[in-house]
Amino acid sequence: MRVIVVDQDRVTLALISNTLTAAGFEVTACDDAAEALELIRQGISHLVIADWELSGKINAPTLCQTIRREEMWGYVYIILLTLRNDTQDRVNGLTAGADDFLAKPFDPDELVARVRGGERVLSLDTRNVAIFAMAKLAESRDPETGMHLERVQSYSRLLAQELFSRDQYRSQITADFIRWVYLTSPLHDIGKVAIPDYVLLKPGRLNDREFALMKTHTTLGANTIDIALKKFPNVAFLQIAREITATHHERIDGTGYPTQMREAEIPLSGRIVAVADVYDALTSKRLYKDAFSHEVAKSMIRAATGTQFDPDVVDAFLRNEAAFLTIRERFTERPPILT
Ligand SMILES: [Fe+2]
Ligand SMILES: [Fe+2]
Repeated sequence: MRVIVVDQDRVTLALISNTLTAAGFEVTACDDAAEALELIRQGISHLVIADWELSGKINAPTLCQTIRREEMWGYVYIILLTLRNDTQDRVNGLTAGADDFLAKPFDPDELVARVRGGERVLSLDTRNVAIFAMAKLAESRDPETGMHLERVQSYSRLLAQELFSRDQYRSQITADFIRWVYLTSPLHDIGKVAIPDYVLLKPGRLNDREFALMKTHTTLGANTIDIALKKFPNVAFLQIAREITATHHERIDGTGYPTQMREAEIPLSGRIVAVADVYDALTSKRLYKDAFSHEVAKSMIRAATGTQFDPDVVDAFLRNEAAFLTIRERFTERPPILT
């Protein structure tokens, strides 16, 4: 496993490199974040240790944000070097997309342990690809949805990151939560595999009976994940996957489905994916409607704040409009170029 280390302090850089090399890692050291970013883009390594105090054209938060925004193939694990006990730095780092921290001056054993932790997370990446493939398979019956899953997972992560920067969510949101929401949000509609074609592919409004059938995709999806949860009851990402599949159509005024939960009864993961999913549905072309513009979608979501959507999640959306547009642009299906 190769590790990229970026730090402007030559002594720290040498100390980290030596410690990791002695522990059997290959190390690429650099003193400039732009250079590190280029190496990551080239796929030299998916594990990065960066000093929080980086200066120059790209600082540490920008480095983290760029890595997350570019959606590089496979996950990039970021460890930030921060001053001991600087909670604000850690909060800012997590918000920017860091995975873990190492306090300076660092303890060599802790450094190796944290890098091994990153290595473990990255080894799970193949599992993540399998989860995504499963979600894609479920979605493949619906020809209109294109890159819906990619967009929903990026929107959801953005909303979770924004909420994390607020005091009242600090106890509910962790780096793991953000990662699991990102990973499992594509599963939100897996229950649709069991919905018959005449309902799923109907090119018009569903009648009451058909809509009742369509609504069952939430419980069908949750039941599928329950089978896995029975075998592995303590696996956090399965629990979050279940929350999302079961509750992404609940409304905070208690008129959603399938169980009419209200407000905080609806898990935070479900409240987050609800906004991400609806924004994407509104701004995408579907069998029964054209795509609305961002502005129209925004005003519709605003109008449903406090009834359909959690006001805090909508607020997180409104504060990240530009990033939503960037994700939308990035994951847009373009017609194939004919030569
Ligand atoms: Fe759904
Ligand atoms: Fe969806």
